[in-house]
Amino acid sequence: VTQQAAPSATHVGSAAGGYDALVGSGLFEKLPELLQARVGAHRYAVISDHRVAPLHGEPLVRACAGAGLEAHLFTFAAGEASKTRKQWSILTDALLDAGVGRDGCVVAVGGGVTGDLAGFVAATFMRGIALVQVPTSYLAMVDASVGGKTGVDLRHGKNLVGAFHAPRLVLADPRTLTTLPEQERAQGLVEAFKHGAIRDAAHFEWLGAHAEALLAADAEAASEAVLRSVEIKAAVVSADERESGLREVLNFGHTVGHALEAESRFDVAHGTAVAEGMLLEAEIGERLGVTEPGTGARLAEALRRLELPPLPTLDATAVSRFLAADKKARSGRARYVLLKRLGEVDGAEGWSREVPDALVLEVLEERLRRV
Ligand SMILES: NC(=O)c1ccc[n+]([C@@H]2O[C@H](COP(=O)([O-])OP(=O)(O)OC[C@H]3O[C@@H](n4cnc5c(N)ncnc54)[C@H](O)[C@@H]3O)[C@@H](O)[C@H]2O)c1
Ligand SMILES: [Zn+2]
Repeated sequence: VTQQAAPSATHVGSAAGGYDALVGSGLFEKLPELLQARVGAHRYAVISDHRVAPLHGEPLVRACAGAGLEAHLFTFAAGEASKTRKQWSILTDALLDAGVGRDGCVVAVGGGVTGDLAGFVAATFMRGIALVQVPTSYLAMVDASVGGKTGVDLRHGKNLVGAFHAPRLVLADPRTLTTLPEQERAQGLVEAFKHGAIRDAAHFEWLGAHAEALLAADAEAASEAVLRSVEIKAAVVSADERESGLREVLNFGHTVGHALEAESRFDVAHGTAVAEGMLLEAEIGERLGVTEPGTGARLAEALRRLELPPLPTLDATAVSRFLAADKKARSGRARYVLLKRLGEVDGAEGWSREVPDALVLEVLEERLRRV
């Protein structure tokens, strides 16, 4: 007997009118019905990478056909390397070949790469058509599928060409996580921990206590984690859709995290880098007297349970060089989101602030020596 938890909906505010994010075990089976009721498109373009296509994309297309909906499957090679203008142009051509028009709808079934790439296709195809996000990785469920950011990577960096394009619906079924490789589960869960760290200390502790069940993709635990994360991200992006203020808090752990990723030439996975980034930024905050003492230790205690791979040896000075080059740096100075305490970001100087270079280097040196 598979558990059928009651689905929950969170409304995400958007200039485009807002949309629901539905979370629930068994929801995937209801997709054709939901597409018909909530989108009513003429044709559906289901886009998945080659790993997710046979697992979830093809079954969805078959179910749509069974329900009398016209759906076509479009696939591309799995991985970040496919998030390109080239892949975007291949997909847009393929949609035209299949006769998808203005009244069509893109259904992104997959991880964050699929969501961003297929989302950008939907954002630009005939100046924008309907989009439904069906995230199948923890990362995509707790983070990438909510907020309307879409885009592709360039030689100069990640996500440098893109658009805001709010989906019509987000549907996360935790049952799809059972096919997600275990190391991908841990990586994506880091963003859920981040959401707890910035907004909800009790949820953060809950995540730490349920890490084992979450890593096992237990449907009940996963539903609870995804739902709370979506609520937190929805509350933040509803208040600040275009990233002019509050949305910055989602960047906790990412200033240092991005520098660690960059210095490792992306050998360090995003989740691992952000987990370490949160610990380092907590330490920086504690030394500045901004973050309540002991916060870093509480973060470390919970994150340890995700059993993330350890960092390779990285040179602190080399890492610090990447901080000034951060995409979100203003006039060449990195900005940090600092916690006031677990569950709350310090907003005394805006949602992010500059920090003395010497302090950052000191913390990097101590911390990178220990790992
Ligand atoms: N738009 C946003 O707001 C936003 C936010 C955060 C991250 N992102 C983007 O998300 C991307 C990372 O997302 P990701 O970690 O999900 O990467 P991904 O889409 O590459 O998925 C990771 C791997 O898991 C596989 N996979 C996904 N779901 C599966 C399932 N249910 N069963 C089996 N295999 C499955 C994929 O095929 C892939 O190999 C990055 O490109 C990042 O920039 C976007
Ligand atoms: Zn992230």
